[in-house]
Amino acid sequence: MKKFFIIFLIMMIEISFSQEFTSPSKNFKLTISTNQNGEFFYKLSFKGKEIIKESKLGIQLVRETNLMDGFEIKKIEEKEIFEKWSPVWGEVDTIINHCNSVVVYLHQKSTNRYMNIHFRIFDDGLGFRYEFPKQDNLKYFIVAEEHSEFAMTGNHTCFWLPGDYDSQEYTYTTSRFSEIDALKGRNFDEIITRSIPGENFVQTPLMIKTDDKIYINIHEAALIDYPAMYLKVDKQNYILKTHLCPDAYGNKAYLQTPFNTPWRTLIISDKAEKILESKIILNLNEPTKFEDVSWIKPMKYIGIWWSLHVGKESWNYADIDNVRIDQVDWKSLKANGRHGATTDNAKRYIDFAAKHGFDAILIEGWNIGWEDWFGHWKENVFDFVTPYPDFDVEEVSRYAKEKGIKLIMHHETSSSVTNYERRMNEAFDFVKKYNYSAIKTGYVGPIIPRGEHHDGQWMVNHYIRVLEKAKEYKVCINSHESVRLTGLHRTYPNWIAAEAARGNEFNAWSEGNPPEHETILIFTRLIGGPMDYTPGIFQIKMGYYSKEREKFQVHTTLAKQLALYVVLYSPLQMAADLPENYERFPDAFQFIKDVPVDWKDTKVLFAEPGDYIVTARKDKNSDNWFIGAITDENKREFNIKLDFLDKGNYEAIIYRDSDDAHYEKNPMSYKIETKKVDRKSFLKIKLAEGGGAAIMLKKIN
Ligand code: NOJ
Ligand code: CA
Repeated sequence: MKKFFIIFLIMMIEISFSQEFTSPSKNFKLTISTNQNGEFFYKLSFKGKEIIKESKLGIQLVRETNLMDGFEIKKIEEKEIFEKWSPVWGEVDTIINHCNSVVVYLHQKSTNRYMNIHFRIFDDGLGFRYEFPKQDNLKYFIVAEEHSEFAMTGNHTCFWLPGDYDSQEYTYTTSRFSEIDALKGRNFDEIITRSIPGENFVQTPLMIKTDDKIYINIHEAALIDYPAMYLKVDKQNYILKTHLCPDAYGNKAYLQTPFNTPWRTLIISDKAEKILESKIILNLNEPTKFEDVSWIKPMKYIGIWWSLHVGKESWNYADIDNVRIDQVDWKSLKANGRHGATTDNAKRYIDFAAKHGFDAILIEGWNIGWEDWFGHWKENVFDFVTPYPDFDVEEVSRYAKEKGIKLIMHHETSSSVTNYERRMNEAFDFVKKYNYSAIKTGYVGPIIPRGEHHDGQWMVNHYIRVLEKAKEYKVCINSHESVRLTGLHRTYPNWIAAEAARGNEFNAWSEGNPPEHETILIFTRLIGGPMDYTPGIFQIKMGYYSKEREKFQVHTTLAKQLALYVVLYSPLQMAADLPENYERFPDAFQFIKDVPVDWKDTKVLFAEPGDYIVTARKDKNSDNWFIGAITDENKREFNIKLDFLDKGNYEAIIYRDSDDAHYEKNPMSYKIETKKVDRKSFLKIKLAEGGGAAIMLKKIN
């Protein structure tokens, strides 16, 4: 029967061809087709509604015949995939991968080349990727552009960030498709980053909502040895077209067969909550090959960090400029008296961490070079192994061990990646010698090798080289300013978090993040994996620290900062504020101490991008549940049905905005209440403008 089908297909090819496939529950229908020129197309419908109109797939090559047309379909293979697996850490402890796989084997007659397109049709969306099998007529090749298209059915609402080859640190714009103007939104220094020759393209994950309330999220999975994907906006035709991050020459990717591109992902639902619960991206990544994962542990940490961002202390040791790292006698320099990473200060943080049950501390500004980095963009800046004279790494390491606190190393590379790679072995030996268990890497500034970009193929490979090196040393990585995540933490579970978006830090020294920011962030950046957002800021207004900072503030209430620990998933969460600020609000601080960082189960109860998110999660290591609720600049009320709870009784400890709280006018006003509840109860919660609520549901019996 099957054989007959294949022969029949081949006969059809010369004319044109079309065939339909469905997801396991049949709510999605994928149609693939070729036309008379042998161009290849797909389209997708959901519950009978067209979502992606006929869209072209193909690859443009440098100097060679493109893989764009002249295709014939040699065969099609279909199979159903059903498997269960458990992540090392995550939002749930068991993940089901259930989909229909369709592999289309294409042959380009004129060049005698082969290219296969893999589709996975899930009940909550679609993934597809290109495969270039090993073959005589396609051994090495350079990709000029990938031409995967996503043709929309109308002028949908989009939640977008301007495309930038080097940064995702922007606030979101919500607009109609036809109003996307990414050129206006960009804020990079064009002279150094040279990004983007005037093209209108946006970043992924891109969140889209149609007028009939279908939610569409476009992103990618398993980004390895290939540049990150952006989406070029064809406003007239409502088509999104792939635009890959270029290298210094403008080329996109240097490939050798056999090769698979990353998956292009479409998460689609008529319920916004389901977008956040989707596991498509993780399921499209390869299982980990790490044999021993016992050393990889979720962590809650504090750090010598916010004090640097609010200007209370400094990264640098001396107030000098124009120095060369290799020519300074650091010991004879005069300290500026504000240096944060001193031995005593580190011990103070270690004591605080031990007293309040944190796992780890981060110490930034411990190593020489901070006098000479930002804006200098030279190659030789940090050496990653020489502490400032007032930081006794041996003593700090000994003290941390004695108190049972882990250390998080800081490697700011200032994007001099050649320098970092050259020094990496020594740097990692140092990390091991002093017993650090994780490294926060940082890529501020333009990349060296010059002309490369944070999101290009070369850097994508660098981040993975660092993960592999880190695995040898059994340390975890939290990468800042790296490419955004694509679910690779399934394969590399030591990639415990990344920044790769606009974090809470912007509130310390800029106009900051508007109240809606996190409600979109969770629908976009977080779709690819966990973020080190650094929540937990209690002292909301920055004028508290100095006159110059008076215009800066966190744009949430204090209660919303607590809620972020639940709604904004990460196995690495910082309690980012200063210990002395937590001491001012010990009762609210209790929630940060109690909230877990690893979960057995997650239910997204209410969600709408740009507006609100209410999420419930069950602790992996106890019977307790937690709820986080956040809103944008509007106040809201929710009536939460607690039917997801297990049988038995709970004490609900509710950390909420006071009745007069408001993110601008009265942000630090909160109330803590307790109630007895069970799975038949409802909890009514009120969120202030820019507010939130955090609830611990403690199992009593
Ligand atoms: C930017 C990072 O996001 C931040 O956390 C860090 O403190 C600074 N760079 C300095 O490396
Ligand atoms: Ca950053």
